[in-house]
Amino acid sequence: MGQNGRGDSWVAGLKRGNARSRPSQSIRQCRPKNRILPHFQTGSYPAGVPATLKSLRALADPTRLRIVALLEEGELSVAELQEITKLAQSRISTHLGLLSETRIVAARREGKRTYYRLQPDKAPEGRRLVELAVQGAAELPEHERDQLNRRRVVALRDEQAQVYFNQVAGRFDRSYGPGRSWQAFGHLLLRILPPLVVADLGSGEGLLAELLARSCHQVIAVDNSEKMVEFGARKARKNGLKNLEFRLGDLSNPPIDDASVDLVILSQALHHAEDPQKTILGAHRILKAGGRIIVLDLLRHTFTQAQELYGDRWLGFEEADLHRWLESAGFRNIEVSVVAREEQPPHFETLLATAEK
Ligand SMILES: C[S@@+](CC[C@H](N)C(=O)[O-])C[C@H]1O[C@@H](n2cnc3c(N)ncnc32)[C@H](O)[C@@H]1O
Repeated sequence: MGQNGRGDSWVAGLKRGNARSRPSQSIRQCRPKNRILPHFQTGSYPAGVPATLKSLRALADPTRLRIVALLEEGELSVAELQEITKLAQSRISTHLGLLSETRIVAARREGKRTYYRLQPDKAPEGRRLVELAVQGAAELPEHERDQLNRRRVVALRDEQAQVYFNQVAGRFDRSYGPGRSWQAFGHLLLRILPPLVVADLGSGEGLLAELLARSCHQVIAVDNSEKMVEFGARKARKNGLKNLEFRLGDLSNPPIDDASVDLVILSQALHHAEDPQKTILGAHRILKAGGRIIVLDLLRHTFTQAQELYGDRWLGFEEADLHRWLESAGFRNIEVSVVAREEQPPHFETLLATAEK
């Protein structure tokens, strides 16, 4: 059925030459002046029309030529096309509907918005048709204004996208951003790692060990809690991480061969060790020459409840103590610094120590 709800039967009537089927005066007044085929008005083509013919028909209209020429410069939404062409939204939508039925234009839905763009079709016929359409559009009186408006609308869009970031610049890194988390950054950074053999001492359930296993050659996670080892090993199996092995053992003398690993990690584990200095010596033993140790721990604090609450043995460490133990174990290129401070009381601070064997 045509746009006016009677178009198809009217055309059929004309074809049959049936005088009785002629439209009444009121219907004739609704007749489109340029005698567009009814299927063009409804936004669909009859079935079985060959693709090129469909495209040619779709392009045989000045508004659609304008739209194609605008989309040639990049993707636009209906609202943007409306703003550029100053045409009614319903008209634009109808034209876009027709163009989308061809191989020329494709629609992309993103939330509540639909964007239109030229199909990234590399077929030479499609390309030739678009070139012809763009050439045809350039001959239209609206062309210059369309292009001017397009530049204005796109510039406005870019500006709007920058408004938020201009506002949050300076506090962006401290505020929430969808998908921005330290865990995600961790994944990113771990991808940079070469295929190392890593020992994660005092690994817990293996949060870090699992991350490492996705990039490293092999990860050995050591913990003296049977339950942690059992749970971690089960999770690693479930996640298909064949290069992650959990071993039950003590931090200070891990069940790992001498000079067999490239990297030792002690993440929030050293303050559980009976003898931290001995633990660092043990790490030195299992490292290959040139291997590295990384210690993440708490800076010395006074929150004594940590002993009951978290089973801590040491209330963190002084930077100088950590430095001294690393040095006396034989490490070189030692660096110890505070890398984080918690916002909530008791404001735990995190120490990061790195050194090389
Ligand atoms: C605070 S958790 C840290 C877990 C993990 N490294 C992390 O950063 O998420 C401390 C872990 O060290 C283990 N642990 C404590 N004393 C240990 C020891 N002497 N030898 C081996 N593991 C120990 C605990 O069972 C616990 O899983």
